[in-house]
Amino acid sequence: MAPTFKLVARAPKADLFVVPVFSGARLGPGAQLVDDAIDGGLVEFMQETDFDGKRGEVLAVPTGGNLGARAALLLGVGDAASFDAAALRRAGAVLAKRASKVESVATTLLDAVGPDIDAGLAAQAFAEGVGLGRYQFLRYKSEAKPSRLARVFVVGAPNAKIRAGIARGARIAEAVAWARDLINEPAAAKSPADVVELARVVARGSGLKVKVFAGEQLVRARMGGVLGVGNGSDRPPRFLRLEFAPPRAKGTIAFVGKGVVFDSGGLSLKTAGGMETMKTDMSGAAAVIAAMSALRDLDVKTRVIGYVPLVENMPSGAAMRPGDVLTMRNGKTVEVLNTDAEGRLILADALSLATEEGADAIIDLATLTGAVTMALGEKIAGLMGSDEAWITQVSEAAARAGERVWHLPLPEDYRRNLDSEIADLRNISTGGGAGTLTAGLFLKEFTGEAPWAHLDIAGTARSSSDDAETAKGGTGYGVRTLVELASTFRKP
Ligand code: BES
Ligand code: MN
Ligand code: ZN
Repeated sequence: MAPTFKLVARAPKADLFVVPVFSGARLGPGAQLVDDAIDGGLVEFMQETDFDGKRGEVLAVPTGGNLGARAALLLGVGDAASFDAAALRRAGAVLAKRASKVESVATTLLDAVGPDIDAGLAAQAFAEGVGLGRYQFLRYKSEAKPSRLARVFVVGAPNAKIRAGIARGARIAEAVAWARDLINEPAAAKSPADVVELARVVARGSGLKVKVFAGEQLVRARMGGVLGVGNGSDRPPRFLRLEFAPPRAKGTIAFVGKGVVFDSGGLSLKTAGGMETMKTDMSGAAAVIAAMSALRDLDVKTRVIGYVPLVENMPSGAAMRPGDVLTMRNGKTVEVLNTDAEGRLILADALSLATEEGADAIIDLATLTGAVTMALGEKIAGLMGSDEAWITQVSEAAARAGERVWHLPLPEDYRRNLDSEIADLRNISTGGGAGTLTAGLFLKEFTGEAPWAHLDIAGTARSSSDDAETAKGGTGYGVRTLVELASTFRKP
């Protein structure tokens, strides 16, 4: 259960009192109370334990019951000038991780924000951090130790902006947690049909219109990519279309998310190691569904349409073969030379439909290429697209949301590496490297005039280690950027 937040003017009784300390062991707001509780020994204690207040440092201080809290935690936050929303998000996450054994925490962290930082955004980031840091996936643990943290008292002058920011941040963290749960769920429990049912449940609770294509409907909709990839699995594909249509909407964005519930590679089979994490190959889909589920609560004024192709990529007697040719929804033909390059095949249909339906701008999220991890690692997603203004808008939204992206090129002259002998294009390039870029160039063939951006999240969708905001496993990367984009959308 997510913790509840309460804004209070003075430090109340709580299990743990968390106060900021700036670089150079400069005491932040509230730290004096801790010093008083231990009879003025705080400076010496910090010196003896080599605690300087650098960003990320933590130091627990026993308060011997002389404070409203049994224990205090000093949180290093670095230089006061750099204590921004991102730092607060991180601090909130560290707080939540360190407070998993107690029920209530009081903190003065928000009071340490400088005057140039927007208090509402700072409060949002803090609440996001707490929710993200507290996240655990315990469904399959027989001896689960869930975090006990239930209440966070935010000490500071209560005001409406802070209150609204906290509510926003908590709601966004809830959406990210929903995405993480779905990503972490084993593939056996999330067939394309299962994902559709889960999406229906959240859609019902969040004012989204749902349309689902299955079986013959996919054939009639000419979804050649979805059908081609889906053929190898006993669990048939689906195509999910979600719509959020607020009254008097200012423009429409299309969100497209890759939903491969398991990627074995198909007949171009992956190695055992390569398959270990492939239940997470639907992270783009999870991000789209999760982000859309929060739009009404966040009072978004933009119309958003979600396009989510859902397939399982498996080898079987019915599976598509290397050398087969598929006809995508927009009429282009694709020679499939590697069945493991399946994401682009299902996205081709989704992007075609999004383009036809006339969105003002399109963004897709996909765990598309292992190559993006070589280039950018686990923390930075590759951003590509067809329109500079839209790419800038996406990258600024991502920066505000605290999700890192890096703009990569789509060089026109690389397109020839996708030329096929017998069809309009092939699904893997003929060499020349740059697998992330050629995948992007492939997708571009299925977009039209509308501004389009592509996020390759193959690296960022999963974390191999626990970090402040992320837990090992699905990260829910993209939810925050999508929500921010929809909240601040301007037609590019
Ligand atoms: N889902 C994978 C990409 C991926 C790899 C995501 C590792 C996360 C971690 C994708 O479908 C894939 O298999 N891509 C191939 C493309 C290649 C065959 C051109 C890849 O990256 O190896
Ligand atoms: Mn693949
Ligand atoms: Zn894949």
